[in-house]
Amino acid sequence: MPEEIDKNAFPRNFLWGASTAAHQVEGNNHNQWSVWEEANAERLAKSAPRLLGHLPIWKDIKDEACDPQNYISGKGVDHYNRFRKDFDLARQLNLNAFRFTIEWSRLEPMKGQWDQEAFDHYKTYIAELRARDLEPILNIFHWTLPVWFAQMGGFEKRSNLKYFENFVHKIAKELLDGVHYVITLNEPNVYASFSYLTGEWPPQNRNPLMFAKVYYNLAKAHRKAYYLLKHEKPSLMIGVAAQLANIQAKRPHSMVDGLGTWWMRYFWNWWFLGRIRKEQDFVGLNYYFTDYYSLMLGLERDNPKMPINDLGWYMEPEGIYPLMVRVWAHYKKPIMITENGVADMHDQYRRWWIEETIVAMERALSEGVNIIGYFHWSLLDNFEWASGWWPHFGLAAVNRQNMKRTVRPSAKWFAHQIAKISK
Ligand code: BGC
Repeated sequence: MPEEIDKNAFPRNFLWGASTAAHQVEGNNHNQWSVWEEANAERLAKSAPRLLGHLPIWKDIKDEACDPQNYISGKGVDHYNRFRKDFDLARQLNLNAFRFTIEWSRLEPMKGQWDQEAFDHYKTYIAELRARDLEPILNIFHWTLPVWFAQMGGFEKRSNLKYFENFVHKIAKELLDGVHYVITLNEPNVYASFSYLTGEWPPQNRNPLMFAKVYYNLAKAHRKAYYLLKHEKPSLMIGVAAQLANIQAKRPHSMVDGLGTWWMRYFWNWWFLGRIRKEQDFVGLNYYFTDYYSLMLGLERDNPKMPINDLGWYMEPEGIYPLMVRVWAHYKKPIMITENGVADMHDQYRRWWIEETIVAMERALSEGVNIIGYFHWSLLDNFEWASGWWPHFGLAAVNRQNMKRTVRPSAKWFAHQIAKISK
């Protein structure tokens, strides 16, 4: 276990929060993802033994992973109705901030037709956060699109960006009361890669050229959104939530591995942030991965086999430290850790993961890196995209039969640490 946490390292106004995304928790969304789920649930259930059979927890998840229902977001965890109770839960965990997405498909279900009730819902949502002294971190795009926009080609076409801009304009006019922080896009690199490079996610268009186009257009969309929002409310702090990996050479003294690592860092971590360098007030950092690369016949990811989380991802929580140092050196902008967490149904790694992360933050803070907040992924167990319901990322477990929330032991420990640090 790491040494005692130094509470003095953290600034008084540090944001301690949890992150969520609309589609993963709200329930009853109708967007390009929910349409895709219906069309692909059977296929995903059939491929589970082949793709997941090697996981140490396979026997625990087998039934769920082989059931097509696992791949349907459906009622979600009914956060759309239970948000007040969920905010109370966040307070109970001593959090003072909360990241959420507003769901475009609810606000503009048909092109140009705005749903006032949905706007009122999110206005109340923000007011209820404020009423509990939870700083709202409003996220605009977390991978879901209204069906009409997806059918027009989504971010594939530059000419479609005007629809996103209209949406941002509407947000600027209607939803910024009480909001100081806005994240325009969640992980544009992941969205563009899974949808257009590996082709695993909707629209499953495996096409490197399209990938490049979408990625490029997302950078443009962010820049436009930045100026629109700033125009409306100059005091806003605006950024993206970037999925950054701690990318390292497998053989530290090998020139070729060094070259491969340099390329991966540029491609995965820096390209997008470089394009929006002037249009961000903080850097949002989602951290899950440390990856070791070697350049043999091609570029290969070659990670240690242990320890791994339930999804089979290699875990090196302290890898967030070199990343924070690099982000700070590159951009000299405040860093908000907008996501960080672990799929861990038995709650055996989560406490260790959070503890290592707190120590890493403390170290970086003491060296002058400006970190303004930490948001755990996630408050609740939720719908993990193409993997569905079986991965458990929540500080609180959710029983989807009766929707009961149960705080995990690691979360109680985390709450206690926050109380100690904030005293
Ligand atoms: C995404 C979340 C996702 C989490 C765990 C992040 O990349 O923003 O939506 O659930 O990782 O995979």
